[in-house]
Amino acid sequence: MQRLSPALRQDNVPEDLISLIKTILAATKEISFRVSQAHLGGLMGSTLDENIQGEIQKKLDVVANELFKDIVLESGFVKAISSEEEDTSVAGNPVGKYLVSFDPLDGSSNIDINSLIGTIFSIHKAPEDMDPSNPDMFKQSGDHQVCAGYVLYGPATMLVMTTGKGTHFYVLDRTHGGYLLVHRNVQVPTDTQEFAINMSNQRFWQEPMKNYIKDLIDGDTGPRGKNFNMRWIAAMVGDIHRVLCRGGLFTYPTDSKNPEQPNKLRLMYEANPMSFLIEQAGGLAMTSKGRIMDIEPTSIHQRVEVIMGSKNEVEACLTYYK
Ligand code: AHG
Ligand code: MN
Ligand code: MN
Repeated sequence: MQRLSPALRQDNVPEDLISLIKTILAATKEISFRVSQAHLGGLMGSTLDENIQGEIQKKLDVVANELFKDIVLESGFVKAISSEEEDTSVAGNPVGKYLVSFDPLDGSSNIDINSLIGTIFSIHKAPEDMDPSNPDMFKQSGDHQVCAGYVLYGPATMLVMTTGKGTHFYVLDRTHGGYLLVHRNVQVPTDTQEFAINMSNQRFWQEPMKNYIKDLIDGDTGPRGKNFNMRWIAAMVGDIHRVLCRGGLFTYPTDSKNPEQPNKLRLMYEANPMSFLIEQAGGLAMTSKGRIMDIEPTSIHQRVEVIMGSKNEVEACLTYYK
């Protein structure tokens, strides 16, 4: 099995970006270890603090954020970082070439039940002419990402990553401490009979999504003429990993549950990196109005509607909005 650096060189990834990726992965190995030891080290449960999103932080959210932030900033490769758990961007090396946005632990509600969680990251080039403390540097569309990925702390610790030359799977080999390539150029099946949505929000969805999901549930007795299965892991990393492995449609649609927050998932460190991975695997990553990676961000914590996965099923869903 190929090691990480030769696999990246095969895709002509520049050496300084390979170094940054290896730094990020060093942080994820440490997070993976802390996650496995959390029960033993008093790291279960919540802190008394809220993050900028208005969510109570879990102790592991804070630990993962500090580890990732410190290791990546100390490397000197980045001009700034932004994180779900930081109010605004944090300045790094003024001549650092890259910007990293990350969700240190995705699926926080799964921490205390020993279920699937992961770390999501997205890398952009840093504009040379801007001050490292200026968060406006991060206002670049998903199309400008040079790398995106996630690490899943599951039964195996897996890295799923793209640098724009396909989406590849790696597994952390604890015998030598590195990630090994296990699947090059993953492809999302074009058709699917599986969907992922938080059904408890049904009454708050817009009409097109209500109608689409009703037709899926009606199965072979409805207009779709086939039965569908449903899965919901409550961690986007887990749901998107399943979609990359065997296809499916994943959505967190706009809803009216909280009128001040019509969308749940964050553009910069959830929707954009996952869109890059899904598109590089032949899937589609959309809102009901257009492509996610075309969106010009207005703030680092902005939220966005997400409909992504198997190409034909995403297209089928979008017909309900026309
Ligand atoms: P986070 O734990 O980083 O805040 O993200 C959780 C997100 C996403 O991973 C998941 O798909 C979704 O929230 C789950 O939402 P519900 O709580 O509605 O199930
Ligand atoms: Mn998340
Ligand atoms: Mn998170």
